[in-house]
Amino acid sequence: MTKKFFALIIAALFFVATPAQAENFSDHSAANLPGSPVEKFYASLPKAKGDYKSRQRPIMIQGAMNTETEVLIRALKNPVTYRELNYLFVAGTYKNYPVVIVRTEQGVANAAAATALAIKKFNPIAVINQGTSGGHDSSLKVGDIVIGERSIDSSAIKTDYAPAGAGAQLTAQEMRGTYSYDKAKKIFVPYKEYSADTTLFNIAFAVANAHEEFNTVTGVIATTNTWLNNIDYINFLHETYGSSCEEMETNSAAQICHTTGIPFIGIRVISNNILTANPYVPESAIVAQDFVLLVVEKYIRDVLKK
Ligand code: 5AD
Repeated sequence: MTKKFFALIIAALFFVATPAQAENFSDHSAANLPGSPVEKFYASLPKAKGDYKSRQRPIMIQGAMNTETEVLIRALKNPVTYRELNYLFVAGTYKNYPVVIVRTEQGVANAAAATALAIKKFNPIAVINQGTSGGHDSSLKVGDIVIGERSIDSSAIKTDYAPAGAGAQLTAQEMRGTYSYDKAKKIFVPYKEYSADTTLFNIAFAVANAHEEFNTVTGVIATTNTWLNNIDYINFLHETYGSSCEEMETNSAAQICHTTGIPFIGIRVISNNILTANPYVPESAIVAQDFVLLVVEKYIRDVLKK
């Protein structure tokens, strides 16, 4: 894609969603609606016959919604679909290397379930969780990309004691973290954060440097099932944990990848930022997928085919 064309897409992002549309989006239009053109496209893909077989371990890319997976699935050669417990997986090749796209559906439980099922079924060499997110930093604009150096579950907290009548003040809190398997101790222990795989992170960083058309930062991705519009609380999370953005899947997939020993990275586009009063722009999801495809291409070339 030329730089000019890319700049046009980014510019267009700011005009497509009215605030009214954006308010509704998180509740309704973001659903993976049956009968939509993208659903029809997914349904038109051939169904896999039998178990997945591949000489090389595939790269797995995850997105929660159709808007966050369509570009990836259209980029696959010879795509075939699998369904496990109602989750959709599409396997094919990209740049002559096996790639599986996982539609995790929204939220931490779905992301964990889809990740575990897909790891068992496809034995991926690496997992990239990507998609849209809300800004926790007023300098981040819609269309900017956060390369997740690490992620946290910002709901995995213990609040300080407060007596009845003291108010629902949550900022007096301590991070507990989420439980995943510690290989050395051979038990599940709490992790306050999960770091990205160094190789994947370096590849993403190099792609960012080589492609000026993407505005990227490295940072912390904060995951919960919550959509925050409380600016003081967002600022608190940003100051306390260094969060650059919030979304609902990354840390949960990271947790399962940690337990199963699979290299992982989260990459998120800013699709909305309440700190700058920018409502959700669904088309921003395209930017994340375009960037991730470049990361995958470089990972295949520089790491997997070496
Ligand atoms: N807060 C929480 N989740 C968000 N998402 C995009 N923006 C936000 C936000 N501000 C993503 C989540 C989820 C869906 C609501 O979109 O990851 O899948």
